[in-house]
Amino acid sequence: MAGKIYSKPIAFSIAATLAVLAGSIAMMAYPMLRAEMHPKVEGLAPLTALELAGRAIYQREGCVNCHTQTVRPLQSEVVRYKGNRAAEPSGRYSLAGEFAYDHPFLWGSKRTGPDLAFEGWLKSAAWHHAHFEDPQAVVPRSNMPAYAFLKAAAVDGDDIGAHMRTLRRLGVPYTDADLAGAAAALQGKTEMDAIVAYMLSLGKAVDRGGKGGLELDLEEKNPLAADTAAIAKGRQLFDAQGCGACHGDEAHGQEGVAPSLVDDEFLGEKGDLPDAAYFGMIKGGSDVKKQLGRPGLADGGMQPFGSELSDEDIWSIVAWLRNQKGHEAAEPPHEEAAEHGNR
Ligand code: HEC
Ligand code: HEC
Repeated sequence: MAGKIYSKPIAFSIAATLAVLAGSIAMMAYPMLRAEMHPKVEGLAPLTALELAGRAIYQREGCVNCHTQTVRPLQSEVVRYKGNRAAEPSGRYSLAGEFAYDHPFLWGSKRTGPDLAFEGWLKSAAWHHAHFEDPQAVVPRSNMPAYAFLKAAAVDGDDIGAHMRTLRRLGVPYTDADLAGAAAALQGKTEMDAIVAYMLSLGKAVDRGGKGGLELDLEEKNPLAADTAAIAKGRQLFDAQGCGACHGDEAHGQEGVAPSLVDDEFLGEKGDLPDAAYFGMIKGGSDVKKQLGRPGLADGGMQPFGSELSDEDIWSIVAWLRNQKGHEAAEPPHEEAAEHGNR
């Protein structure tokens, strides 16, 4: 029998095709029909009208040519994109279910710039506005083009209802009220508002905020104050963690992005606070403001660094900031002015 079929090329081809087909259906098509292949992420909500408009701008501007939106489960990638702050270990990398409402997917494959999948947990609205307007002003070595023109363009609300209706047909659970209110939600918004809103929505279906809630003891002294080795290490950590991207390389702050760390204002009010308050803000981020009783910026924007920096690291940074502040106070006014002007 076996010998026979080998001598009949046509019958053999048909039989081989059928065998491969049956195998493909068993291995590929059948599993696709099972619910496990379509995992749901509980916190997943469809994009708002403004976020969706921002996504369309992301596609139009070809951001996908430089940015990916998927953090793979590799340790190096997880650490690089700050997935290690996630509340649950499963949230450290991108989950299939997070993309259930994406049409089309914008995973990308080119990483000229950083992956943006967790962007919603990383930067504030003010940072994004400043960065899109002039990336080099915020990240000096950046080769990302400027998108300042988005500020001058009003979002086109004509098609947003139709866009949402089409997505609904593909299974995105928009309600009639969402569709009816879509155009109104875009009234008076610029394309800049839309792209920033979209950035802030990325990765938000899963808790990737790191640890909040921190026991603060304002009496606690900095164990490394005035320790020269710690001051040098603090300077390095400040650079390595990218604090300067928001607070400026010399911690002088950047207008509209983040406050100076070497002036005599802290969280929006005159008067310095003790080292332990600095420690708390760095470890726990803007959530710690409640415990410090100062207003700070309305939309916060300081991320917790407690999961990437040890307590010793944080005290070293505080030691450097204090040293830097002392050095500023001792500087003649014209040098001080030149330093500020040069940034
Ligand atoms: C030519 C390549 C290129 C293009 C096009 C580009 N970017 Fe970037 N992007 C970069 C690089 C490189 C960086 C890293 C330096 C920096 O932060 O500016 C970056 C950084 C960013 C960051 C900061 C990420 C972080 O957390 O540090 C965001 C957000 C961003 N890009 C969004 C966008 C959006 C949205 C677009 C389209 C409107 C876009 N980029 C287009 C190259 C690009
Ligand atoms: C994405 C931008 C960003 C990065 C990165 C960042 N910060 Fe901040 N930081 C802010 C903003 C915005 C505030 C104001 C927060 C508020 O008012 O809620 C702030 C507040 C602070 C404060 C309180 C100081 C004051 O005068 O109000 C300290 C201290 C601080 N940051 C230290 C650091 C250190 C150290 C790093 C690096 C480990 C860092 N920050 C990284 C944006 C940033």
